[in-house]
Amino acid sequence: MCGIFGYLGNKENSTEMVVEGLKRLEYRGYDSWGLASILQEKPAIEIVKKVGKISDFKGKKFAKSHIAIGHSRWATHGGVTQVNAHPQTSEKGGIAVVHNGIIENYQELREELAQEGHKFKSETDTEVIPHLIERYIELGFEKAFRKALARLKGRFAIVVVGEKQETIMAARRGSPMIVGKGKDEYFVASDIPAFLPYTRDVMYIDDNEMLIIKKNGEKAEINFFNLKDNSEIEKRIVEIDWDYTDAEKGDFDHFMLKEIMDQKETICRAINQDTKEIMKVAERIKGAYGTFLVGCGTAGKVCMAGDYFLSKIAQKHVNFVVASEFSAYHHFLTDKTLMVVVSQSGETADVLEAMEVAKKKGVQILSLVNVEGSSIQRQSDYSFLINAGPEKAVASTKAATSQLSLLLMIAYAVAGKLEEGRKLLIESASKINDMLNPRYLTYIKAVAEKIYEQENMYIIGKGENYPMALESAIKIQEVSYIHAEGFAAGELKHGPIALIEGGVPCLVLLSKDENYQDVINNAVELKSRGGYIIGISPENNEVFDQWIKVPDVNGASPIVNIIPVQILAYYLAVLRGKNPDMPRNLAKSVTVK
Ligand code: G6P
Repeated sequence: MCGIFGYLGNKENSTEMVVEGLKRLEYRGYDSWGLASILQEKPAIEIVKKVGKISDFKGKKFAKSHIAIGHSRWATHGGVTQVNAHPQTSEKGGIAVVHNGIIENYQELREELAQEGHKFKSETDTEVIPHLIERYIELGFEKAFRKALARLKGRFAIVVVGEKQETIMAARRGSPMIVGKGKDEYFVASDIPAFLPYTRDVMYIDDNEMLIIKKNGEKAEINFFNLKDNSEIEKRIVEIDWDYTDAEKGDFDHFMLKEIMDQKETICRAINQDTKEIMKVAERIKGAYGTFLVGCGTAGKVCMAGDYFLSKIAQKHVNFVVASEFSAYHHFLTDKTLMVVVSQSGETADVLEAMEVAKKKGVQILSLVNVEGSSIQRQSDYSFLINAGPEKAVASTKAATSQLSLLLMIAYAVAGKLEEGRKLLIESASKINDMLNPRYLTYIKAVAEKIYEQENMYIIGKGENYPMALESAIKIQEVSYIHAEGFAAGELKHGPIALIEGGVPCLVLLSKDENYQDVINNAVELKSRGGYIIGISPENNEVFDQWIKVPDVNGASPIVNIIPVQILAYYLAVLRGKNPDMPRNLAKSVTVK
């Protein structure tokens, strides 16, 4: 949801660097983009703003500059227009701001400023920020920024530059932003991949902090401040172990396919956790009076599967709640409750808000996140990194199977059978490694070719494959825009079967477990109404019109069953002429409510 990138340092091509950095952040927002550079020779601000994807920008030669900021937008306030793209500028144009988040009191501020004669060009909430800074500018750039920040309500990550200022200033409250430290240069960005080609040294910014990066001759200096009392803060430099190539798509046509193929390795990375930590968390789950599994989107479906894992493997009752609904359960929260939060980005606003509700009741929070240093990780009492590496396609693939794997291992630990769980997962990972070969992709592509012109699809599963039926529907919807719906197999006869007509593709997720025959019977019912049955199953069955074979991994079946659906969704999108990495209206990291 909006990508921010800023650079200050000794390189003269900062504007080109910002363009490249924004391309690496494009997965966060791709309806329009813009940048502001402080020109070395004039000095003046050069602003460029465009509607469309920055990856389509063929580039131009920019003037020399050591300081530049940029933004790729996912519109919230104001339509997708060049005027609404960021940076937004002040009345006189000398101050440029990029912003991620929502300024909740922007209408009030806009009216106040308008009464003083300020004229607004855009429909954005962001535009009040440069106007406010300009209002206080006689106090100096830094003080004016602080005063403006004090007036803002809502969530934000803001980066600002000013004409004749050899400075970048930034502030954070509730929206992601981090700093990268290079040699005599600093980067400020919404996410690590933006500056990975230059540095792996990261400094984390907490909420209610601001920073000032100043050019001092050939050197660059950075200072961090607490916004509440203006005190200076010391920051640690953390070296992260993501590799630049992990965040690139290499020879793959799309990130989605690359990330699907990464699952050859990511399951093992997810379960490679410290045994003592896993046992500590297992004890915490055992002792909790009420455990809630909370997430959004794909992570939410993973939580729902976790609910089944804990019930089936550990006979532990837990509650699954989607994050945006969590506050309805606040009556049941006490300081003995445990909240298990699952989030790839670690920045999803609905999850953070659910955590706020829980914290007020003294609830302990365990999180499973992919992004180190993310807000959710930092606000948790315990946290595991799933170590899937950067996930850039909007549709979550490898993060989901990593989360499922870790939750399954935790369920085994709660049952006192950690080693059994680990063994099952290692065997499953090895079978996934074998499964993800070019022949498998070609086979699934051929299935996609048979059904890609259909407008409806239905998916059924039972037990822990029911949440995967729901997740399959999300995968297909978000990238191919086919209307897909997932159901508990047993619910078919209570309504959904009325939707089945001749030739409608029906995916049937199966595992060789106690539910197998029931689900086959449901598939027979679908077929007798004309459904075109695609079985995702370890063994073939006469009811299938198409069989996509998956390895037999018993209780780990949700992890292997979702992978062919990811591949199918990918090819459905490609065959329908859609870009699976950038689905319309969706964003990778949803940092607004
Ligand atoms: C967005 C993404 C989904 C993701 C969900 C939760 O909707 O498009 O792919 O599952 O957010 O994101 P999180 O980062 O919390 O896992």
